[in-house]
Amino acid sequence: MDFKLNEMQLDIANLAKDFAEKKLAPTVKDRDENEVFDRAIVDEMGKLGLLGIPYEEENGGVGADFLSLAVACEEVAKIDPSIALSFEVHTMLCSWPIWKFGTPEQKKKYLVPLAQGTSLGAFGLTEPNAGTDALNGSTTAVKDGDYYVLNGAKVFNTNGGEAEVTVVFAATDKSKGAKGMSAFIVEKGTPGFTYGKKEVKMGIRASVQRELVFQDVRVPAANMLGKEGEGFKIAMMTLDGGRVGVGAQALGIAEGAYNEAVKYAKERVQFGKPIATKQAIAFMLADMKLKIETARWAVYQAAWKMSQPDVKSYSMDAAIAKKYASDVAMQVTTDAVQVFGGYGFTREYPVERYMRDAKITQIYEGTNQVQQMIISGAILR
Ligand code: CAA
Repeated sequence: MDFKLNEMQLDIANLAKDFAEKKLAPTVKDRDENEVFDRAIVDEMGKLGLLGIPYEEENGGVGADFLSLAVACEEVAKIDPSIALSFEVHTMLCSWPIWKFGTPEQKKKYLVPLAQGTSLGAFGLTEPNAGTDALNGSTTAVKDGDYYVLNGAKVFNTNGGEAEVTVVFAATDKSKGAKGMSAFIVEKGTPGFTYGKKEVKMGIRASVQRELVFQDVRVPAANMLGKEGEGFKIAMMTLDGGRVGVGAQALGIAEGAYNEAVKYAKERVQFGKPIATKQAIAFMLADMKLKIETARWAVYQAAWKMSQPDVKSYSMDAAIAKKYASDVAMQVTTDAVQVFGGYGFTREYPVERYMRDAKITQIYEGTNQVQQMIISGAILR
């Protein structure tokens, strides 16, 4: 058992850290306040190789692994959780299923530019009436010669409206239940594929979530991912990886807020001494650290498992990492606001933003109650 990150993983973590501190930190507050998703930032991450971390060089990537991706996502989230989300959805929810299930032609056409960062990816599963009950969507795909015709709508789509490539799930035969959903690669600009409402949110305001609308969208049959009827399995397997990414994002959020709290507690003087010298604050910091370090190992272990060829399933590990790290992020960011006292509640300091950003990690890519369903399902199977 080796708990050390290897040289490649450390190099990638340092690259992401340097980028986050130099490029993201100076503008993160403005982008949150103005609710701006800055595409140029993600493009720059592409040029650095950050958008293709776990994929092989022939697929446009840098040939590292999923633990490298997790540590990069963590570093970005320490500074800017919104960009970490865009990064995670692109790499885990869009590129991953193409990497795992794509044909050589699909990989060449879509995965290579995604991994090189010359195109941006999204993942369309959730619908207004099909969130947790992901199988119950009403988007349909009907075969018509060499095409499938898609009709329906998806909501809460991260990178929506920006992404050149979206992996979309639609029912090809509703009567077949979990075997009646299929996955498609849909290009931006395909006639009939438009964008609806842009969400106005509590947190992750510097990322974009839009409604996707499909009206008689003709998608080439060659763009089906996997076989007809494999879509639900593909969605679930993709979300297993996505949840590792959300765990890494949540870990970074907790660390970002904790770092601010430690700094402030050492500087803020009350009763003639820095508040960090008061046991009430010191013990809060100790508990924050304890939670972060335990979350780290849940996330790193799940990310490590993702790269092991002999590991058949990491669903439960991913669910544990996502649930635990996101709960830790919520607790730690709330405590960070408490350490700052009244100032923590103002927008002058970043801890309120971390707290707002943390909340969604308990919700998206499967609520934490879904993670409990997955964990208990694995125990009781
Ligand atoms: N890997 C492989 N196969 C899987 C699987 C996995 N992880 N999970 C389920 N399956 C298979 C099952 O084995 C089963 O196959 P069989 O029929 O052959 O037995 C089939 O899929 C159906 O499984 P379930 O009966 O468990 O399905 P269910 O309808 O009861 O749903 C669920 C289970 C866990 C609740 C699932 O619907 C789920 O994860 N829901 C949450 C969806 C979600 O995370 N949405 C987030 C979307 S992205 C987002 O958040 C937006 C963003 O931009 C960030």
